[in-house]
Amino acid sequence: SIVRDDKITKETKSLISSLPSHEDFQGRKLCKYQGCWYNYNTLQGVLNFQRGFQPQDTDIILASYPKSGTTWLKALTVAILERSKNHSSDHHPLLSHNPHGIVPYFELGLYIESSSPDLAKYSSVPRLFSTHMPLHAMHKTLKDSSCKIVYVCRNMKDTLVSWWFFSCAIYKLERNRSILESLFKSFCNGTFSYGPFWEHLLSYWRGSLEDPKRVLFMRYEEMKAEPHDQIKRLADFLGCPFTKEEEESGCVDEISDLCSLRNLSGLKINKTGKSYNSDNKDYFRKGEVGDSKNYLTPEMENKIDMIIQEKLQGSGLKF
Ligand code: A3P
Repeated sequence: SIVRDDKITKETKSLISSLPSHEDFQGRKLCKYQGCWYNYNTLQGVLNFQRGFQPQDTDIILASYPKSGTTWLKALTVAILERSKNHSSDHHPLLSHNPHGIVPYFELGLYIESSSPDLAKYSSVPRLFSTHMPLHAMHKTLKDSSCKIVYVCRNMKDTLVSWWFFSCAIYKLERNRSILESLFKSFCNGTFSYGPFWEHLLSYWRGSLEDPKRVLFMRYEEMKAEPHDQIKRLADFLGCPFTKEEEESGCVDEISDLCSLRNLSGLKINKTGKSYNSDNKDYFRKGEVGDSKNYLTPEMENKIDMIIQEKLQGSGLKF
């Protein structure tokens, strides 16, 4: 058999054998399902989700391409929703949990083994979930629901470099240029976990244009440049805008400070804990826009610029 993993059902193995396949930068197998490359375990999670998830209209789904600011978006959303609960300052969930421990992934967590996980523990309203699937992968499952989706995107160069640091950290590889170059190649030809990158962006971009009340498209770079405005925009979209009194009392800035990379990465839970088999500390690095300049050659940068320009042409989305 081409697939060796007990989590993968016979049915999925048979589906996989009919799909285009490729190897990622580490030689692990990927297959292309509904236009998106997944590793086999993730595909099983996607299929389980597609079969089993029953949305509620109040659900909020936080979506992203990996390494685009997922952890930050999760923290901000939790902080915005939690503020009505008036925690005494040392009882805030973000002080004792990593954001990934509060907002579970569909295909990488809840649905990885089964299409009917017990969601009883996620009974608070709204329920918060997350995913790295492109929007079209959720289309059928969510089509009769008015749940909200927030997507965060980031420019391809910084996303790639962030992946390089992260994957070397989690797979305990010595970080070197040859890994960066193979990642770069896979990124550019789209054969990368959850790729092609541009198709991912475009699925949510189009979704946000078609239904702006349902899909919010956020950008990491804008969140860095104008956190205050972007936090307000997120709260408005989620249906819990800041009151005038809250704004005047500095509530928006408090959320911004609470969720800052500096603050979160300094908390004990994020220095020592684990989420999704990764050390929490690896979710926090530098968090700077344009840091990729320090690692990519001008040729690599040019190639990415050209790809992005070509693939996004006519969409209205620009970097
Ligand atoms: P860098 O590797 O460029 O530093 P994700 O959360 O999707 O895995 O993305 C990880 C990237 O977001 C990393 O980028 C990480 O440093 C950055 N990040 C994590 N928490 C952040 C926060 N609270 N504010 C800003 N950036 C954050």
